[in-house]
Parts: sequence; structure tokens; C-alpha cells
Amino acid sequence: MKLIQVTSIVVIMLILALSHLGQSHARSEKGESNSGRGYGAAQGPKGRGFVPPITSSPPPLSPPSPPPPSPSTPTTTTSGLKVGFYEGLCPNKLDDIQAILTLKVQELFRKNSTILPALLRLQFHDCFVHGCDASILIDGPSSEKAAGPNLSVRGYDVIDALKDIAEAQCPGVVSCADIIAIATKEVIKMGGGPDYQVETGRRDGLVSKSEDVNLPSPSLTVSQSISEFSAKKFTPEEMVILLGCHSVGISHCQFFEARLYNDTTQFDPLMDPTLRNQLKQTCPKNANSNNVAFLDQNPQSSNILDNSFFDQIVKQRGILPIDQDLARDPQTSAFVLQFAGDRSLFNNKLASAMVKLQALDVLTGSKGQIRKTCSRIN
Ligand code: HEM
Ligand SMILES: *[C@@H]1O[C@H](CO)[C@@H](O)[C@H](O)[C@H]1NC(C)=O
Ligand SMILES: *[C@@H]1O[C@H](CO)[C@@H](O)[C@H](O)[C@H]1NC(C)=O
Ligand SMILES: *[C@@H]1O[C@H](CO)[C@@H](O)[C@H](O)[C@H]1NC(C)=O
Repeated sequence: MKLIQVTSIVVIMLILALSHLGQSHARSEKGESNSGRGYGAAQGPKGRGFVPPITSSPPPLSPPSPPPPSPSTPTTTTSGLKVGFYEGLCPNKLDDIQAILTLKVQELFRKNSTILPALLRLQFHDCFVHGCDASILIDGPSSEKAAGPNLSVRGYDVIDALKDIAEAQCPGVVSCADIIAIATKEVIKMGGGPDYQVETGRRDGLVSKSEDVNLPSPSLTVSQSISEFSAKKFTPEEMVILLGCHSVGISHCQFFEARLYNDTTQFDPLMDPTLRNQLKQTCPKNANSNNVAFLDQNPQSSNILDNSFFDQIVKQRGILPIDQDLARDPQTSAFVLQFAGDRSLFNNKLASAMVKLQALDVLTGSKGQIRKTCSRIN
């Protein structure tokens, strides 16, 4: 009798202990997937410094027991890229094609520093549509290039010049997608931004369709923009730091002139009045001009990739509606203030966000191809 009681108590305790274990295990799985950490760890990153995205997607429905062995989960930073992918891949003891390309980028930047904004925007547009697979470079009446938001994307000539060098010295090996990444990384550094180790190993995509181009519009609300970035696994903070790339480059009047005139619904009464008066000169009402304004209205740093853009938007001197709204919306204004006040924080966060952007939905291994000419699928 006693024995049976003791045994059943032990059994009940065991059951309780096991079910409790199960619960806490499930909880920690859930916590991990909510913070994105488990996701990042499954990809096996080697000490990369960025914080993985916080996703609001629900945790996996399947039981947590067997950890998924597949490393090929899409849309992460570690989809098979690595630093120094091309080492040893070129003939004739040419061991560093990346260094040769980098030297050429430096030469081109010294001649024309506006390749910095050109390449940054090109990189963003490439990665946000079909991943960083150079699909934006494909020519054709209905390719990505031909879509509305491409407007004025520049820098194709830079990529072509680099591809010529790559093909002459190391034929068939270096992808156009990696050339964009290497070049963008280098101009970021030369333009005053962070230096970081660019990952390589991307392959070029086989698809480029204008109807796939669905880039954020400059008059989206902050909430809409947050959800577009979240669909690509970027946090609101990462979105803010990436929009900090508007620290360089220009915008055409069409994207912001409605903020200037008090008879439009988009009139912005809060804009710094001095700036408004200047911009009215640049963008006369209904003139349909092709004029442009610097996105960073600090005249000392309009072509320097630094945090002064954030300082400007705090001072109500933003150009694009979305840029100005970052400083006003409670979802993003704290990030804006932080970056405005701390250049090294800006540099560190931008480096991490760029590594992540440049790894977005990449093709690696035997996927895609190495294009011979960047504007054509082989
Ligand atoms: C919500 C997201 C974004 C929107 C709505 C947006 C919109 C725009 C617009 C309308 C322009 C002006 C284009 C022109 O008039 O030629 C522009 C320029 C630019 N954007 Fe963005 N952008 C976004 C995110 C980004 C990101 C993430 C980057 C970089 C990682 C970036 C880099 C640039 C650069 C460098 C320019 C200047 C281009 C030049 O001088 O040619 N943008 N953007
Ligand atoms: C961008 O798209 C427009 C049409 O929206 C087209 O006229 C223009 O040629 C395209 N730009 C490039 C570089 O292909
Ligand atoms: C500078 O480079 C940009 C981007 O490639 C190009 O659009 C522009 O025409 C160049 N300017 C000069 C003066 O060569
Ligand atoms: C609107 O702007 C014009 C100048 O562009 C000014 O004369 C007028 O007083 C303004 N109206 C209002 C309601 O602020």
C-alpha cells in the first residue's frame, strides 16, 4: 500500500517535472524566435556584430524538438556569403581580384564622388527587388530598370567598368552582384562612412521584371515604411539607419515640392521657413522642372556619409516627406535623436545594416549564374 502510494507520487512528480520542462522549452523557443536570435544562430554567423531582426511573425507551428539542419533559410545575412570569397579563384596567381576592383573604385571616386549616392541607391534598389542579384542591371523594355521607381538610378557605368576589369583578369568568376557590393562598400568608406568587411559569393539572378519592382514611395507614412522594411526582415531601427543613406545625394523636385506650397494637401507648415524659401526658388510652383536639391541640407556635408542628415531632420530641414517624418513619428524619433548625436553609433549601426542589406535574398552556391555582361543574362 505504502509502496504504491510512493510510486504514484514519484510518477506524478515525474509527469509534472517533464511537463514543466516541456513548457519552459517551448517558451524559450518562442522567445528566441521572437527576438530573432534563434534564427540568427541557426544560420551560424561567425561573430558578426549586428542584432538580428525583430520579426513580429508568429513562432513556428511545428514542435520544437528536432532543430532544423537546413542552413538554407532564405533572407538572412548568412546565406552562404563570406569575406574573401574570391581568394584563390582566379588564374595566373592573381590572388586578389577584389583588391584590384577596389583600387579602381577608389580611382573612380576621386574623379567623381557622386558615384557614392549613385551606388548606394543602386544597391538598395537591387537588393529590395528579388534580392542582391544584380537584376537591376538587366537591359530590356520590361526589366527592373524600366520600372518607374528606377528613375534616375545611376552608376551603371561604374559597374560596367569594374566588370570589364574582372572579365579581363579573371574571366567568368566574379558576379555582377558582388561587384555592386564591393564597389558600394568602398565608396561608403571613401565618402566618410564606416569601413567594414564586405562579404562576397553572390551569384547573378536570372529574372528581372519591371512588374516586380515595388519599392517604397517617398510619401509613405512611417508605419507603412516600417511594414515594407519588416517584410524584408529589417527592424524599425535598421530602417532608420538605412534611410540615413539620404545623407548623400539628391532628390528631384517632384518628390517634395508639394511640401512647399500652402495650397496643397501635403503642405508642411513645420518645415524650416528658411529652407522652404530656398527650395521654392529651386522648385518653382508647377514649373515641372528637372531641378534637384541635396537630401542632406547641411551644406558642409551634402556629399559626406555622416550623421548630419539626422541633425537636419531634427531641425525640420528634411527633403523627402518620409525623411522628415522619421524625426516626427514616435516610432522612429528616438532613433533619429540618438544617431544625430553620435557619429560612431551611426557608423557602427550603418555597417551592420549594410552587411545585412547586401545579404538580402542572395543567390549562392550553384544558384543563378555568373553573368558575362552585367546587362544581359548569359
Ligand atoms: C523608404 C525608403 C526609401 C525611399 C522612399 C527612398 C526614396 C528616394 C527618392 C524619392 C530619392 C530621390 C531620387 C531622385 O530624385 O533622383 C532617393 C534618393 C536616394 N536614395 Fe532613397 N529611398 C529610400 C531608402 C533608401 C535606402 C535604404 C538607401 C540606401 C541604402 C537610399 C539611398 C538613396 C540615395 C543615396 C539617394 C540619392 C541618389 C542620387 O543622388 O542619385 N534610399 N531615395
Ligand atoms: C527608368 O524608367 C523609365 C520609365 O519609367 C525609363 O524611361 C528609363 O529609361 C529607365 N531608366 C533606365 C536607366 O533604364
Ligand atoms: C558622375 O558619376 C555619376 C554616376 O555614375 C554619373 O551619373 C555622372 O554623370 C558623373 N558625372 C560626371 C561629371 O562625369
Ligand atoms: C500662402 O503662401 C502665400 C505665398 O506663397 C502667402 O502669400 C499666403 O499668405 C499664404 N497663405 C496662408 C494661409 O498662409
